[in-house]
Amino acid sequence: MVGSPFFCYYGPRTKNVMSKKRIIVAVTGASGAVYGVKILEFLSKASFETHLILSDNSKITLNLETCYSVSDLSQLASFTYSGSDMTAPVASGSFQTMGMIVAPCSMKTLAEIANGISSSLVTRAADVILKERRKLILLTRETPLHAIHLKNMLSVTQSGGIVFPPVPGFYNKPSSIDDIINHTISRVLDLVGIENSLAPRWGMSI
Ligand SMILES: Cc1cc2nc3c(=O)[nH]c(=O)nc-3n(C[C@H](O)[C@H](O)[C@H](O)COP(=O)(O)O)c2cc1C
Repeated sequence: MVGSPFFCYYGPRTKNVMSKKRIIVAVTGASGAVYGVKILEFLSKASFETHLILSDNSKITLNLETCYSVSDLSQLASFTYSGSDMTAPVASGSFQTMGMIVAPCSMKTLAEIANGISSSLVTRAADVILKERRKLILLTRETPLHAIHLKNMLSVTQSGGIVFPPVPGFYNKPSSIDDIINHTISRVLDLVGIENSLAPRWGMSI
């Protein structure tokens, strides 16, 4: 069959053995690139196998809002893909993962996911996560919200996704931006079932 157009072999880039600690992180062009950075920092230290997808627009916000370059961010991830790489393992449901966190998630990416449109690797991977009934968490960032945003959030929720706008809580008396970010990230990691003590828990000392 060598030479058959039906058997073009792209070759494995990672083992397709389900690792309990394998997770997809996508960063899109909404404000709040730092959420993606901090999630990757945590997962890297905790020895997770991370599959990072960067949308083209995320590179603009990453540059404007943080002191991390694309290459710095890629070094925190086990594998990095561009938003147009549809041959990436994460584009297929046969590649098993714990789930996917989109941090931050733009209204454009939310709209595509909500409507089953897979025009980029970010939205294809999210579509796969939903169809495979895995955990999808979207740190949607926009304000104020109009009816289309809200309808899209409802659609994603009805399909099993979790819409998690990074809205800070103040009951823990945060004293820095890091405290605020860690509080959100801690709750996001909790949702995927990842043990962490990034933030104080109400009623408990850490
Ligand atoms: C500095 C900057 C901040 C932005 N912030 C947001 C935002 O908070 N929420 C949002 O939905 N879009 C925001 N956008 C617009 C998105 O980048 C734009 O809609 C883009 O098409 C999103 O594409 P992506 O989801 O493929 O990354 C911002 C753009 C720039 C340049």
